Amino acid sequence: MDHNIAKIRHDYHLKGLSEADLKADPLKQFRLWFDEAVEAGISEANAMLLSTVSNGRPSARVVLLKDLDEQGFSFFTNYRSRKGRDMEENSQVALTFFWKEFERQVRIEGAAVKTSEEESSEYFAVRPRGSQIGAWVSDQSEVIPDREFLEGKTKDFETKFEGQTVSRPPHWGGYRVIPDFIEFWQGRPSRLHDRLAYTKSEGNVWKIERLSP
Ligand SMILES: Cc1cc2nc3c(=O)[nH]c(=O)nc-3n(C[C@H](O)[C@H](O)[C@H](O)COP(=O)(O)O)c2cc1C
Repeated sequence: MDHNIAKIRHDYHLKGLSEADLKADPLKQFRLWFDEAVEAGISEANAMLLSTVSNGRPSARVVLLKDLDEQGFSFFTNYRSRKGRDMEENSQVALTFFWKEFERQVRIEGAAVKTSEEESSEYFAVRPRGSQIGAWVSDQSEVIPDREFLEGKTKDFETKFEGQTVSRPPHWGGYRVIPDFIEFWQGRPSRLHDRLAYTKSEGNVWKIERLSP
């Protein structure tokens, strides 16, 4: 049965967000919202949409936030993938989180910078072995003939690394997004949502402004 898409509607009413609620540092504010989402048991609260732009053409996909520090937001991927090639050409990206259980969205914009080799290796080392092998198997974003192709390559790499630790492929590692804009969105009734945006100005000072919903 085809559902009537236009009739899917949700009125937001859980909470409000006021200037007085906000921390001066948006990364600390993000940490607060993120911890609330995790503590509430939201599944994959660390899933975020990563948007890149190459040659004026946008492209977006979900990746997982793996670290958050005072500098920014880190995730891991294949440097030769489409997103990796996009960020090589244009480091400006956007990240979007949507925690529907809290009627909250966070929009982040900034520059993606590769994490150090040490950071990438450190995280690679704690991934499950299957994912480590997978990083060798997958030439991410390339066209492949069929599923068997992947399964065949998996067997080859399992044999290659038998009895050994799996090393990190040189083309696999992290990026850290250093934000210069972060908007916190809290759904409110009648589409009159709260939107509070931080913009980094000269001297690394964050300015907070309320945006019209
Ligand atoms: C919930 C979820 C989490 C994902 N996490 C990652 C991730 O952390 N890193 C990654 O490279 N791809 C991740 N993916 C796969 C990407 O969405 C995407 O398919 C892949 O990275 C290839 O994207 P690209 O061709 O634009 O480079 C995830 C997908 C989903 C649905």
